[in-house]
Amino acid sequence: MAPSLCALLLLALHPGMGGPGPSCGQDVAIRSGTFALSDGYHPGSVLTYSCPPGFYPYPLGSRLCQDNGHWTPLHTPTGSVLPKALCREIRCPAQLEFENGSFQPRRASYPVGSVLTFECLDGYTLRGPAQRVCQGNGHWDGGTPACDDGAEHCPNPGVPPGTTKSGSRYRLGERVSYRCKAGLSLVGSAQRVCTEAGEWSGAEPSCRAPFSYDRVEDVGSQFGASFSNVLGLAKTFLGRRLILSDDSFVNVYLLVDSSKSVNSESFQIFKEWVENIVDRVSPGWGRNTGSRCLSLPELTFLFFLIPFSPLPLFPAPF
Ligand SMILES: *[C@@H]1O[C@H](CO)[C@@H](O)[C@H](O)[C@H]1NC(C)=O
Repeated sequence: MAPSLCALLLLALHPGMGGPGPSCGQDVAIRSGTFALSDGYHPGSVLTYSCPPGFYPYPLGSRLCQDNGHWTPLHTPTGSVLPKALCREIRCPAQLEFENGSFQPRRASYPVGSVLTFECLDGYTLRGPAQRVCQGNGHWDGGTPACDDGAEHCPNPGVPPGTTKSGSRYRLGERVSYRCKAGLSLVGSAQRVCTEAGEWSGAEPSCRAPFSYDRVEDVGSQFGASFSNVLGLAKTFLGRRLILSDDSFVNVYLLVDSSKSVNSESFQIFKEWVENIVDRVSPGWGRNTGSRCLSLPELTFLFFLIPFSPLPLFPAPF
């Protein structure tokens, strides 16, 4: 498997980078939610939608008044354009498979607060929680449960919610691979190998809905988890070297301030710095490949999947 570095770069929509142009329309309300404007209906203004707790703005969290006097269109994941944004209920993804055991209840997706209960067949022991609760951010709490008979070299790696797994032999060198249900993006390792140590390589995959990045806590926990995993492998804890094995990865989050006090020139400098960092950690990276955008109030996330060869990371203070 090609080693990869997964970096999540958060770049901003920067207001005020174009010349003056026509105003944008005022018909921007969101059904069951509210909106705020950074600079009225002028070009460069960022419109941010908010929804009540338990709901998320669909299909976008924010829009830019473009120089042509039009707001960023409301494209859905399937490519259609909505006339009006709406607040949708946050739900957790379905458990699609559970090997050598059963779970209930079975639904296509689950409202916040739902409880999933897992049980194993006779002869199999449950590893991980017997119950998981759907949290307010659309993720299930706790780890991934799995039923294991202890007979193979590696434990059953489990099937996280929203994913399907192929491969069900867990001997040394055996591989399993994961795919997400349509509309969800895979974070973690799409393929894992049973290693000599009796552990699975890489990181457990999870399938995330785009809105799950919209909370600071989610970005924070991704950041914390990936860095503690990587630092756990590094020999010198206090140094600035991160040594990655072939199958490990690191998420890099760079957050760029796009508020009005940051002028266009400073924003460009930071943007170039981000590009340099990405080039440095990943010489083979093509600037326009593997990126996708997710939105946050006042920010657009650029999400880059970066092919990565194990090298010491971050030679400069970071
Ligand atoms: C346990 O699951 C594996 C993989 O799906 C399957 O091949 C095996 O037959 C199952 N064992 C039992 C006792 O059902």
